[in-house]
Amino acid sequence: TQAAGPAGAHDEPAVIAHRGASAYAPENTLAAIDLADRMGFDWVENDVQRTKDGELVVVHDDSLARTTNVEQLFPGRAPWKIKDFTAAEIATLDAGSWFGPEFTGARVPTLKQYVNRVERNHQKLLLEIKKPELYPGIEEDTLRVLRQEGWLNRHHVKHKLVIQSFGADSVKAVHEQRPDLTTGFLGTPAVADLPQYARFTDQINPTHTSLTADYVAAVHRLKGAHGKQLQVNTWTVNTAAAATRVNDFGVDGIITNNPDIVRDAVGG
Ligand code: G3P
Ligand code: CA
Repeated sequence: TQAAGPAGAHDEPAVIAHRGASAYAPENTLAAIDLADRMGFDWVENDVQRTKDGELVVVHDDSLARTTNVEQLFPGRAPWKIKDFTAAEIATLDAGSWFGPEFTGARVPTLKQYVNRVERNHQKLLLEIKKPELYPGIEEDTLRVLRQEGWLNRHHVKHKLVIQSFGADSVKAVHEQRPDLTTGFLGTPAVADLPQYARFTDQINPTHTSLTADYVAAVHRLKGAHGKQLQVNTWTVNTAAAATRVNDFGVDGIITNNPDIVRDAVGG
């Protein structure tokens, strides 16, 4: 079915599982993307940061405290920042039991492990470079892992990968280093500033709480870095009412912890 937008019919928005199907499985774990896969969702979103010894790992907060048992295993290491732990230390953490006993033993994935699981599941990845100001050069590191794992070939670049960040400089750096990649800027720039973002990004990805039909229309009037209509993916939309609202604005993608609720509300 087609959803009707204010300017007429538009394609159903992509439904993107935020940190995986994170309402139902621990965020940013392989269990969360496997569950999204079993629920029938091909797009997943994640957050990438860097360890003390330079490994890229998939975690949302810059501290490991909320989503792992790091406080128990390393009690003297508050505030448990990712950048102060080695990859080997992080690999010992349990990233599942905080969410539910059935997920005990889930690990913090490395980016390498994560993209290989996305590949195995035939899924697609909206990769967020999280807090790039903490990790100088993380754009290059991310591109290196993606290249080594076979994610920068034509097929993946065209169909399976978008890189986004709240850091405009980070998005710009990705665009400059790999101009063929699709990129997204996380935020809600002033309408007057949108043309300058459109030089280096293909998507403007704002929080849904401040989104309006006029803003979506303003983004859609522009062409992005690859000459196609600038797109809008909005987050984090977890209720049917919110999904229906942004769908009526004509957004291109909806990023959600509850992909099943969004799909029931808007299709996709
Ligand atoms: O993908 C958009 C969304 O993830 C941005 O916010 O804090 O959940 O990473 P956050
Ligand atoms: Ca994110």
